[in-house]
Amino acid sequence: MAFKLVSPAPHLARASRPFLQCLRRAAPTAQRRYISAYGYEQAKALTFTAYGEPPDVLKLHSHSISPPHGNLMTLRFLASPINPADINQIQGVYPSKPTFTTELGTKDRTAVAGNEGVAEIIALGEQVKQQGFKKGDWVIMKGPGFGTWRTHASATPEQVVLLEEGMREGITAVQAGTVSVNPCTAYRMLTAFTELKEGEWFIQNGANSGVGRAAIQLGKRWGYKSINVIRHREDQAAEEKLKKELKDIGADVVISDAELQSQGIQDRANEWTNGGREPIRLALNCVNGKAATAMAKVLASESHFVTYGAMSKQPLTIPASMLIFKDIHFHGFWVSKWSAQNPEEKKVAVKDVLELTRKGQFKDTPFDQIKWEWETKEEELIAKVKDTLEGYREGKGVFLFGKT
Ligand SMILES: NC(=O)c1ccc[n+]([C@@H]2O[C@H](COP(=O)([O-])OP(=O)(O)OC[C@H]3O[C@@H](n4cnc5c(N)ncnc54)[C@H](OP(=O)(O)O)[C@@H]3O)[C@@H](O)[C@H]2O)c1
Repeated sequence: MAFKLVSPAPHLARASRPFLQCLRRAAPTAQRRYISAYGYEQAKALTFTAYGEPPDVLKLHSHSISPPHGNLMTLRFLASPINPADINQIQGVYPSKPTFTTELGTKDRTAVAGNEGVAEIIALGEQVKQQGFKKGDWVIMKGPGFGTWRTHASATPEQVVLLEEGMREGITAVQAGTVSVNPCTAYRMLTAFTELKEGEWFIQNGANSGVGRAAIQLGKRWGYKSINVIRHREDQAAEEKLKKELKDIGADVVISDAELQSQGIQDRANEWTNGGREPIRLALNCVNGKAATAMAKVLASESHFVTYGAMSKQPLTIPASMLIFKDIHFHGFWVSKWSAQNPEEKKVAVKDVLELTRKGQFKDTPFDQIKWEWETKEEELIAKVKDTLEGYREGKGVFLFGKT
């Protein structure tokens, strides 16, 4: 990367010592963040130097960012989610690798965790201004690997996508910071593999995930009906509550994976689909294992089965008959690859989802908002990341940056 981050800035340290000392005297607590002097920004980032389990390898690293010049801008993050892919990336099992660098002033080469988020431009170089960016603009990341679990960052225009004023209007930071991965994945999978007609069905597992909830809502808007599979809960009341929650956002049918694998499921599917006259033509799978195979069994002949995740860590097993006699088409989808190859289509998807959100026609996934203030301690942030490794969660973790 072209930018230089220094920690601490040697000439700043010399030139501004009296100024900083004065600030220090005024600061009520030792934790207080010093106001940036001469355009230097004080930043903190959740970083890792080696792959491993997040609680074992993540560290909160402080550094400073030099004033932006030329084609550089300084970003202040507003919201960054904790997605399953972020965890896989830290574990070293995600195909998109982060950049390990010493540019944040670390002794060892270090990467910043997190792939998705929204940030505000707080300072920018001349060339960035000439490209139409200005202070106060909101940007989202163009692709994975940027490192979004941090208070501030230096970026070039090529690394970000501007959320124009019209797109941003009435949208919260959490909504903007979570629009580009899960909703866009659902958007694309519902439209790219087959052309569902109004009244036709799709079936999906992981239906209460961010992607699943987005698929339910987008599908509803576009006239598709959905069968939604969630994991069985031992607590019956909790399972019923979740089923109702998904129905409230537009799910036609919600069943557990146990129900999907029980005898008589084909008869139930026939009942839902008017005796099969409204075919189930598409399946979206982020789980794998037996429950995914069971989902493929209720598909109509020549349907499409799209795998985009592997939450159960099980392989996907496909009986040969599904290929030979039913001619089911099996696909994979990765939003990062699609976005890199189709940036304009991605922008349209983002715009459409934000438009629906603004109109109240697209509801947020339930979030566990994790406040990240300048004083927030390393152990608090890492504990929250660790929480997301557990299943059966009520809300998806998202860092919401306060006074940083
Ligand atoms: N290919 C792509 O481009 C792409 C893009 C976005 C997301 N994804 C993938 O889509 C999936 C969902 O992502 P998200 O961000 O929407 O998820 P999320 O909101 O964080 O929700 C996690 C989901 O995974 C389920 N789950 C957790 N552990 C599980 C297990 N052991 N077996 C079965 N299900 C389990 C959860 O169900 P419970 O409530 O029952 O725990 C929940 O439905 C992930 O696999 C992610 O990697 C892929």
